Amino acid sequence: MNPSAISYHKTTCYDRNRMRGDPLDWPNQPRVFKAYDSIEAIPLPEVDKLPEIDLWHLYFSKTTKRLESGLDLKRLSQILSISYGLTSTRSYSEQTVLYRSVASAGALYPAEIYFFAFSIDNFQPGLYHYGIKDRSLTPLRGGDDSALMSTMTDSFETQSLSAVFIISGIFFRSSWKYRDRAYRYILLDAGHLIENLALALKATGLPYAIDYDFDDGHIGHLIGFDDQKEVSLASVHVGGRSSITQKELTKSSSLSPAIIEASSVSPVETVYEDIIDIHRSGINITKQSVKDPDISSKLGLNPLEWIPISQNKVPDKKLTYSEAVLRRRSRRNFINQKLKKTTFIQLIDIVFAARAENFSVAKGYAGALSIGFLAGNIEELPPGFYLADTVNKTAGYVDFEPTTNKMAAICLNQQWLCSASVHFLFMSNLNTIDRFWGPRGYRYAMMTAGRLGHALYLGATALGLGCCGIGAFYDDEGKNILGLNQESYLLYLVAVGEVKGM
Ligand SMILES: Cc1cc2nc3c(=O)[nH]c(=O)nc-3n(C[C@H](O)[C@H](O)[C@H](O)COP(=O)(O)O)c2cc1C
Repeated sequence: MNPSAISYHKTTCYDRNRMRGDPLDWPNQPRVFKAYDSIEAIPLPEVDKLPEIDLWHLYFSKTTKRLESGLDLKRLSQILSISYGLTSTRSYSEQTVLYRSVASAGALYPAEIYFFAFSIDNFQPGLYHYGIKDRSLTPLRGGDDSALMSTMTDSFETQSLSAVFIISGIFFRSSWKYRDRAYRYILLDAGHLIENLALALKATGLPYAIDYDFDDGHIGHLIGFDDQKEVSLASVHVGGRSSITQKELTKSSSLSPAIIEASSVSPVETVYEDIIDIHRSGINITKQSVKDPDISSKLGLNPLEWIPISQNKVPDKKLTYSEAVLRRRSRRNFINQKLKKTTFIQLIDIVFAARAENFSVAKGYAGALSIGFLAGNIEELPPGFYLADTVNKTAGYVDFEPTTNKMAAICLNQQWLCSASVHFLFMSNLNTIDRFWGPRGYRYAMMTAGRLGHALYLGATALGLGCCGIGAFYDDEGKNILGLNQESYLLYLVAVGEVKGM
């Protein structure tokens, strides 16, 4: 039987017995930078300027509808370096880690970026891989490639389509550490990157559209993935929208074995069948009406009272969007200090804006997720569990019982979480998702959680607060403490608060 969102999720739940803490196989540690050794890469131009727009203006403004000026290599370089660039280096006894402009569970960076260049000024059309470490583009297919051409021909609105970015996930980068649970983190990580890429496109004035429903098997074949190892998860279209529809795989010519081999990242790779199965069972796109499945009403929660929590105001003192991206880090040194109510609302306003349908996210993917928060130490807000209504911009008080202290214990005793002012919670009813979208809906819920988590990271950094995403928790204990029904789960937690030395 094909696995469903709920069966995969249940299989990969942590409990106190399932955290054996097997040692990591360090000699087999995955490479975090994909390389095509046999192909000469094209260096990207230096980035001399980054967008100066304010993060709140960026979130509150509408996405440009029309391509005003062409996309050139300089602008592409700027977009790639801000969305997935190296921002810091740290040496530990075992290794040196190069940190990036997005968070990643365990700093394992399973996501990669590719793009189809259709119309970029003074640049050969074709398919390219973005090399993060040496800031370069590796050509994988030329514009005269018949498979690429057929993808272009089947597109509509192609006159204005400049490029299509594809975000992929390499399974073993993450499953080396997280085993069969890794698919969750790969999707969350992809969501963080999608949000960062979308913001970079918006900040540079480019119209774009995010799409999770495309023929990802065909695209993976075109890019040259070994589909047991690497898969395409999301496409981001610049300029117009293309429809990469189901087509005959035979149409695309095979790439060299060296290109396919580049999806391998370790000397010995374990294939986790649960991951392959849930991914493959989500290959089919179940067409749904645009209607939202209203997940919040399916969690088994009954908020007692709703209060308004939006102000849609730009904060006075904050970093710009680019500064926030470059300075963003996971910060865990929370100090037990009250968060101003206005600051909290500025943060939640960003989440509301990122969740809004007009943020160029196709169809109702964001409807796969419900947002809540545990108020720990927020001015004028009694501690407890609240559900957020993203349409009416209100918070519903559910219960005083789940506390940030209790949640810290459930998050594998990460005690520093006790001192965070607020834990944002991303939850879903996975049975509803299965019924509404089929197993593919799991991707929508997890990638949306990652996107919104990234919005929080940037908002917190811009406001001088600390922030850290948490994917490690005992799932059933999390569900119980929040009072969720049997079909519903906490998918991701993001802690925010004042930290030492920001
Ligand atoms: C999906 C996801 C899950 C994470 N889970 C945890 C966690 O459980 N505990 C933790 O301390 N950090 C967690 N992190 C933070 C990562 O460890 C951090 O992003 C990574 O080390 C890179 O560092 P940076 O965010 O400072 O760039 C998580 C991040 C992501 C994106």
